[in-house]
Amino acid sequence: MSRLRLGVNIDHVATVRNARGESYPDPVRAAEAALAAGADGITAHLREDRRHISDADIDALAVITRRRGRPLNFEMAVTDEMEKIALAHRPHAACLVPERREEVTTEGGLDVVKGHNVIAPVVGRLAEAGIRVSCFIDADEAQVRASKSAGAQVVELHTGAYCEAVRHSSPEAPRILAELRAAAQLAVSLGLEVHAGHGIDYETVKAVAAIPELAELNIGHFLIGEAIFIGLGPAIQRMRELMDEARG
Ligand code: PXP
Repeated sequence: MSRLRLGVNIDHVATVRNARGESYPDPVRAAEAALAAGADGITAHLREDRRHISDADIDALAVITRRRGRPLNFEMAVTDEMEKIALAHRPHAACLVPERREEVTTEGGLDVVKGHNVIAPVVGRLAEAGIRVSCFIDADEAQVRASKSAGAQVVELHTGAYCEAVRHSSPEAPRILAELRAAAQLAVSLGLEVHAGHGIDYETVKAVAAIPELAELNIGHFLIGEAIFIGLGPAIQRMRELMDEARG
């Protein structure tokens, strides 16, 4: 099985910073530490309400990832404003996500079936600028096919439902995992690269990382939480070990 890349999402370093309206902890410093600890790339979500990552963070993250030759995965809602920002920075990748102001986190996948006519032109303009575009979707056949037809090169499968099922010892977990596997297989058969993320921790990473079609995981909240206890570098290294074991 090919090596699985680990993208580290540093949004919640900014959440802590913003809780005090201070300049620290600095998500850019966290990105530097994550890369030094073996993260393959950095993921950051510039939300429309700027509740964590700021425009200035994206400016700085674009600079440091470029300097280090590592990918920046820019998570964005499908809006004119975010498209302009993406086109100004031309990050390595853009991940299109749904966004609702009242949600605590990205609660479900992007509805590419329903939004196809709006999403496809955005994908086209971003791709034309050399940005790899992924659609963050639920593990659903119609969503995978719609992402392909919208021109995405990548789909990121939403693992939130699986991780929640495992944490609550739900009997649904194996069925949800099987759906993730089937969606990953279908995506690869259509020529898409497949990523996965949301809610992954040391326990749930094992079964997710074992899905052979996956090329990348994007993990944030758990790693930032774990960093409080053991430090960001060791938390990332432990996650990396578990991913490698799952693949081995
Ligand atoms: N991938 C995407 C597209 C996301 O929106 C998020 C959450 O911002 C993640 C991965 C990481 O999820 P978590 O912070 O739960 O690990």
